Amino acid sequence: MAAHGKTLNLTLRVWRQKSAKDDGRFVDYPAKGVSADASFLEMLDQVNEGLIGKGEDPITFDHDCREGICGSCGFMINGDAHGPLKGVTVCQLHMRTFSDGETLTLEPWRAKAFPVQKDLMVDRSAFDRIIAAGGYISVDTGNAVDANSLPVPKPNADAAFESAACIGCGACVASCKNASAMLFVGAKVSHFSLLPQGQVESPERVDRMVTQMDHEGFGNCTTTGSCSASCPKEIPLANIARMNRELLVSALTKREASSGDGI
Ligand code: SF4
Ligand code: FES
Repeated sequence: MAAHGKTLNLTLRVWRQKSAKDDGRFVDYPAKGVSADASFLEMLDQVNEGLIGKGEDPITFDHDCREGICGSCGFMINGDAHGPLKGVTVCQLHMRTFSDGETLTLEPWRAKAFPVQKDLMVDRSAFDRIIAAGGYISVDTGNAVDANSLPVPKPNADAAFESAACIGCGACVASCKNASAMLFVGAKVSHFSLLPQGQVESPERVDRMVTQMDHEGFGNCTTTGSCSASCPKEIPLANIARMNRELLVSALTKREASSGDGI
């Protein structure tokens, strides 16, 4: 770990891929005189300024807020999604995490459902389509006062808040050997189904979101836990268990309705 105020000389081994159709390859770049206090993305900005100055194509990577909020950033650093620190997005990772002389290998998320667009940038619109399939409340929940007048048990409110912290970055998919999106979908399903406003549509919501998830080509969960371990918001695995419970309830509700027994 480099000390505060020091500079680092590093080698970046970066995945370069011109387009979704290009094969791609690793290219080494020196990153010299990097401030230990710079963020990882600031270091990449510095390397890119050098590349642009030499008339070369800068390294493409996604970013927006640079505050760990938007979920735009994310790639693998030496095989770790968002880098080696727990609970940190790559935009909030500081260069003091690394040691002088290190070689850092940067790769995009690898998943069939997240095709590489260019270099470190992947297409995560599969997540948008899962949200569009059911990640919303369409019933009238009234205004803020009405909503607040609904009693919500404190454990449910806390769990809903924890689930709502998911920023949709995709690190869970990239870290999973099956490229499963269940932690993401579980978090989105949970944050609605734990609250009274979201419960009305729970059976249809989980059914539609999971159907879309499968349609996008994400893999299944085999409970290795790598998703939660690499999640920058430390979303717990309990969200996957909750989603599976909701899915079972949804299937039973449909079966009862079709047999004329029920609801
Ligand atoms: S569950 Fe975590 S890793 Fe997955 S998309 Fe949400 S914030 Fe990112
Ligand atoms: S750029 Fe927004 S979370 Fe990293």
